[in-house]
Amino acid sequence: MILTTGGAGFIGSNFVLDWCAASDEPVLNLDKLTYAGNLGNLASLRGDPRHVFVQGDIGDAALLGRLLAEHRPRAVLNFAAESHVDRSIHGAEDFIQTNIVGTFHLLESVRAYWSGLPAAEKAAFRFLHVSTDEVYGSLDEGAPPFGETHRYAPNSPYSASKAASDHLVRAWHHTHGLPVLTTNCSNNYGPYHFPEKLIPLCIHNALAGKPLPIYGDGQQRRDWLYVRDHCAAIRRVLEAGRVGEVYNIGGGSEMTNLEVVTRLCDILDALRPRADGKVYREQIRFVADRPGHDRRYAIDAGKLERELGWKPAETFESAIRKTVHWYLDNQEWVKNVTSGAYRDWIGKHYGD
Ligand code: NAD
Ligand code: TYD
Repeated sequence: MILTTGGAGFIGSNFVLDWCAASDEPVLNLDKLTYAGNLGNLASLRGDPRHVFVQGDIGDAALLGRLLAEHRPRAVLNFAAESHVDRSIHGAEDFIQTNIVGTFHLLESVRAYWSGLPAAEKAAFRFLHVSTDEVYGSLDEGAPPFGETHRYAPNSPYSASKAASDHLVRAWHHTHGLPVLTTNCSNNYGPYHFPEKLIPLCIHNALAGKPLPIYGDGQQRRDWLYVRDHCAAIRRVLEAGRVGEVYNIGGGSEMTNLEVVTRLCDILDALRPRADGKVYREQIRFVADRPGHDRRYAIDAGKLERELGWKPAETFESAIRKTVHWYLDNQEWVKNVTSGAYRDWIGKHYGD
């Protein structure tokens, strides 16, 4: 079996669902169930013996030791993290604890388990660390996209904590020989995306008649990738990636935030027109910029394509439509995740 951490979050749950759709190999899913973790994402696997869920912290060495000894996974995939830049600006403590200290404890637990495996299992074992393009910092206009050897220059508490975790993973390979793989991916979107992030927040607010908040001038650029394409890339890297290597993953679809939000508005105008006959673009509001806001990210995923034959199956155009449809069809899920603590966050971050 494989062990995923953070498999009740956005990308992790999409990965677990896709994994179980494509394979009979069981998944042991360890997740702390923070505000971002939601077992509702995995409701379709209820009663399925291939999915074993355990609530717990990647920093809990005793728990990890027990789980690894009992289930003997052939791979560990680390999705668990605090992942929201804006929250890391309000308070970085949880980011340091989970992304850095937690990854350290996870690496140590996995190293102890891996060291004791018989030779063939030890050689086949993999630790795959899921990371982000944000570790590379901000790209200048016109500069070539991030390759795997781009220097690390994280600018937010979130990206700094992810950069630190990448360095730990690298060191556990070079120093201890742990067979690691690291992936650095661009911005994802798709089903089960928590509505604190730009795309699901704007779909949610548009339908609720609320403002669509654009930070600064809205000209910041991101490279958007459909989450299921990201999951396919991770499966491919796990299957055939070279040990110790880093693979950048991206959608080749760089857009400004304003372009993304106006595109969402246009799709909603067609699928769910406003009752008053006006267009959703009228709800766009420019708000104070994020401190330290990175201007541009772009990924060169050429290594992954050349070495492992991966390419995104979706374009932004095809997958953003699927995503909007998913949110329209899953308003109950949205209702469940936007109660209590969510409202506190929105009030704290956006005020009135
Ligand atoms: P998310 O915030 O939606 O989910 C994170 C999950 O980790 C949640 O289920 C949460 O309960 C769990 N978790 C948090 N702390 C934990 C701990 N200490 N122990 C166990 N579980 C814990 O995040 P996501 O968007 O799904 O991102 C998953 C990974 O992918 C992260 O490592 C993130 O840095 C990386 N990533 C995200 C994106 C993106 O666009 N969302 C892009 C590139 C890389
Ligand atoms: P986000 O979804 O938070 O992802 P990340 O910061 O990891 O890239 O934000 C994507 C972009 O959208 C980023 O440039 C910040 C911007 N943004 C807004 O303009 N308004 C918002 O309310 C949010 C949440 C993000």
